[in-house]
Amino acid sequence: MDFYFRDEFSLGVASAATQIEGGECNHNWNDWYHRGRIKDGSNPARANDHYILWKQDADLMFDMKIKHYRLNLEWARICPEEGKVDEDAITHYRDEILYLQKTGISVLLTIHHFTNPMWFERKGAFERKENIKYFMDFVKTVVKAFGDIVSEYITINEPNVYATMSYYYGDWPPGEKSMIKAINVMTNMAVCHIKAYKMIHRMRQKMGYHGTKVSFANHVRVFDPKDPKNSWHRSCAKLLERFFQGAVTEAMTTGHFTLPLRRPKGIPRGEFLDFIAINYYTRTTVSGFGDGTKQDAYKNDLGWEIYPEGIIRCAKYLYGLLKRPIYITENGTCDNEDKFRCKYIYDHLKAITESDLPITRYYHWCFCDNFEWIEGESARFGLVHVDYETQKRTVKKSGKFYTEMIKENGVTKDMYDEYVKDQEYHY
Ligand code: BGC
Repeated sequence: MDFYFRDEFSLGVASAATQIEGGECNHNWNDWYHRGRIKDGSNPARANDHYILWKQDADLMFDMKIKHYRLNLEWARICPEEGKVDEDAITHYRDEILYLQKTGISVLLTIHHFTNPMWFERKGAFERKENIKYFMDFVKTVVKAFGDIVSEYITINEPNVYATMSYYYGDWPPGEKSMIKAINVMTNMAVCHIKAYKMIHRMRQKMGYHGTKVSFANHVRVFDPKDPKNSWHRSCAKLLERFFQGAVTEAMTTGHFTLPLRRPKGIPRGEFLDFIAINYYTRTTVSGFGDGTKQDAYKNDLGWEIYPEGIIRCAKYLYGLLKRPIYITENGTCDNEDKFRCKYIYDHLKAITESDLPITRYYHWCFCDNFEWIEGESARFGLVHVDYETQKRTVKKSGKFYTEMIKENGVTKDMYDEYVKDQEYHY
């Protein structure tokens, strides 16, 4: 029932610029909204209005005892046009980062989290290898601007989710439905990560800083066959795992490019992570070439299976590829009424605490309810409730539980009784 974290383990929260900042930025998600592609019609220009309310949000984070914040820069704000750098945007983010650090909250900086400036999108974004240089220019701008105050970086968030949602399923911008394009995007993003990994280290070293840590946020799932005795189910599970995450993970971690990815020129083998960054949400149950969810399993409000053991199965797999400290850079659930989030967090953190893997940080996804991509404002993942009309923030029961866990360095018997005991998952 009660459990305590290991000494070196601590808790944070994560976010992405487009999902919280608001504002009429010239990027592909505002464009997607204007094309009527957000299910509930909500506009990312509203979101949490965080670009204006950032100080209030930082204060709330501090009040909630949060120790680490995974923060993302909006590329379209920093580089609104090709070749231009907006110094005001840089000053804005520097102020925010310094303010967080002053209150004792460490910052893990995500460079790319799904969103592209329109000038880059129009050039074909990551689909064309000729465009890698634009991303690298942005990385250079980021390190020049923040290298003196930030030592920890995520180059790219979930290349596999970006590539499949945007280029295979076509639900995200630019709405392509081509397996070949999705594979090209994953290949090019892997190259971007490797080059960025080296560039960040090189630049910070030249600036005289040590202790640089770089990784990419890897969305990993468990792929299990629906019927483990069925060889077709087993083969499909292996193939899907390879296509969705296996190949791109290996490429980005070690520079080993295997099918279905292309082998790019001039990328040597190596070790391109200083920590393993895991975004874990769910398991996929496979009986063919489509995405499947186990029928008689607990699910969240978006129908994703709740499978806490999976976080450790995924972490073991990644640790087997390259032994590095592990950060859970995202874990959380869509629970619109905050009815089972405490139990969800409890179950995942318990699994982490009981494992012998070197997991040192956990960033909950997410801090405040926010703009959940094509689901818009209707899917709530936050520890803090947001009334989008008034922008009022209210800490949820799960948010209070999170703060108590930080204070107590775990879950006491009383906390279990108060927050977890009566919560139930649904099917
Ligand atoms: C993404 C987040 C997203 C979350 C919940 C992750 O895949 O990085 O941006 O909000 O999942 O869907």
